[in-house]
Amino acid sequence: MSPASRTPRIDDPDGPEGPLDPSGMRAQYRTAGLVEEDLATDPYGQFARWFAEAAASGLDEPNAMVVSTADAAGRPSSRTVLLKAFDERGFVFFTNYGSRKGLEIASNPFVSALFPWHPIARQIIVAGQAERVAPEETAAYFRSRPHGSQVGALTSAQSTVVASRAEIDAAYAELAARYPEGTEVPVPTEWGGIRVVPESVEFWQGRENRLHDRLRYVRAGEGWRVERLSP
Ligand SMILES: Cc1cc2nc3c(=O)[nH]c(=O)nc-3n(C[C@H](O)[C@H](O)[C@H](O)COP(=O)(O)O)c2cc1C
Repeated sequence: MSPASRTPRIDDPDGPEGPLDPSGMRAQYRTAGLVEEDLATDPYGQFARWFAEAAASGLDEPNAMVVSTADAAGRPSSRTVLLKAFDERGFVFFTNYGSRKGLEIASNPFVSALFPWHPIARQIIVAGQAERVAPEETAAYFRSRPHGSQVGALTSAQSTVVASRAEIDAAYAELAARYPEGTEVPVPTEWGGIRVVPESVEFWQGRENRLHDRLRYVRAGEGWRVERLSP
């Protein structure tokens, strides 16, 4: 049976043939290449093109990105978040400023954000510094969220240890009763947008025989220079 057709079951995760072996899994990429002449003048324009193509391809959650941070001692941590805005200022997601990522960013602003678009053999890696968006930008986005998500953000002291699920559900129920549908839920003080201001943005395109295309925009004065990286 091929690896792809074998679905591990929860009650028997190894299945009759033993654990799923990833060593032989490799896709052969046959996509068209990425050449310098076709690039947009800045990484935001190039991101906009690829983001539209990723969305058009039908892959799940093209705005999901893996954001990595590191604490003051340099210990890294990663998690998925959703891109909610991008422009020439950077790439924005929303989170709890008191969460692990929020605290790490407060002590060390250097971050990496990676878009893992495996189904179309592409990835984009943004490296740069994180900063908080303006409170008005946070408030505008918060108001656009469904009521339940607003109450949820107010409920959760993200990344803190809790005693039980029941504790979270009770806190939610109490706040949902205090701020029923149709009333204004206050923007949580510890919640808001983070903008990743890029210092470099790499566009990776899978090619045949592992000879992938990697083109990286690097900030140079007011503009950008592009360099090609060995695959
Ligand atoms: C698809 C997906 C999207 C997510 N989007 C967000 C998001 O936009 N903001 C957020 O704070 N957490 C988001 N999460 C949850 C984070 O991955 C993470 O669990 C949470 O932010 C706490 O991370 P931390 O403890 O490292 O700070 C998402 C998770 C997944 C799987």
